[in-house]
Amino acid sequence: MKSVIVGFGGALPRRCIKNDELPASLNTSDEWISKRTGIKQRYVLGEKERTSTLAIKAAKEALNYAGVSPNDIDLIVVGTTTGDYTFPATACIVQKGLGIANGCPAFDVSAACSGFIYSLDVADSLIRTGKSKCALVIGADSFSKILDWNDRSSCVLFGDGAGAVVLKAEENTDRGIQYCKIYADGNYANYLVTSGGVSTTQNAGVVTMKGREVFKFAVEKFKESFQELLKKNNLKIEDIDLIVPHQANIRIINKLIDVLKIDAKKVVVTIDKHSNTSAATIPLALNEIKNELGSGKNVVLLSMGAGFTWGAALVRI
Ligand code: ACO
Repeated sequence: MKSVIVGFGGALPRRCIKNDELPASLNTSDEWISKRTGIKQRYVLGEKERTSTLAIKAAKEALNYAGVSPNDIDLIVVGTTTGDYTFPATACIVQKGLGIANGCPAFDVSAACSGFIYSLDVADSLIRTGKSKCALVIGADSFSKILDWNDRSSCVLFGDGAGAVVLKAEENTDRGIQYCKIYADGNYANYLVTSGGVSTTQNAGVVTMKGREVFKFAVEKFKESFQELLKKNNLKIEDIDLIVPHQANIRIINKLIDVLKIDAKKVVVTIDKHSNTSAATIPLALNEIKNELGSGKNVVLLSMGAGFTWGAALVRI
């Protein structure tokens, strides 16, 4: 049994802030941000928008693409660390928003920027064990709500967004998720962490990070998990058609291209347009390139996020 990706969707808030539209009080510049991060703009939630607003929009697009009706969905997994509420899960709000009334399980997965790959792995496992036939997997985050907008070293890096895929169980197929492995090392929990939380400060806090350490760790784990993926699947680097890495920073992506000696044309980059949308970067990127994915192509997804968490997946569309 394989989980085949049959639908893609994406959603961004209406409001876009270009680098040179950031407040003058930040004392930053388009030149600094573009050169150090590759980011040119970010989208941020409007007053009435929520993480679920984006997740529902992305999910509707993915269902429509797949030609699947909402009540055919029997599992909803949302990777997010910036849900609408502490509880219920944003996945339950998505379920209601889509009008799904079949009682299917709906839950969130907390793995920060690795939230989508973690969610994909959970959904894939439930499909392969026969517990689900048609799953909705979403990565959705609204980091604009947990940024210190006076801290130029972090607030310029992130934006809001959501991406969704529909997974369908199919037998006797070469398509689908061929491999997915997720990892974590909690020894690095304080390297990328919010300054608060429910049981500590009773509020969400803001993003804090050791930027340089995150940078090094991301390159190392992207490389290691990618090489393990190749080995476990008996593939060579030339067999990979496209790589969709988490979009945290263009310099991390360029370093990965350097150390792996991959053809840069095979590496998908959306950070300039979307910035770092945390759990949404990979599904949003997949949605952007859905017409290039073509059947039979080997597509690799790589993620890294707070925890530290990371993961790698090999998918044939
Ligand atoms: N505009 C102008 N100057 C800035 C800005 C800014 N937005 N931010 C920091 N600076 C200044 C600092 O104040 C510092 O000035 P000083 O030398 O006078 O003290 C100088 O730039 C250098 O600061 P560093 O923090 O050392 O800059 P660095 O070159 O490390 O770049 C960055 C910072 C971009 C965050 C880098 O560490 C990085 O790419 N880290 C990777 C982590 C990352 O991308 N995190 C995002 C999300 S994490 C994830 O998704 C997994």
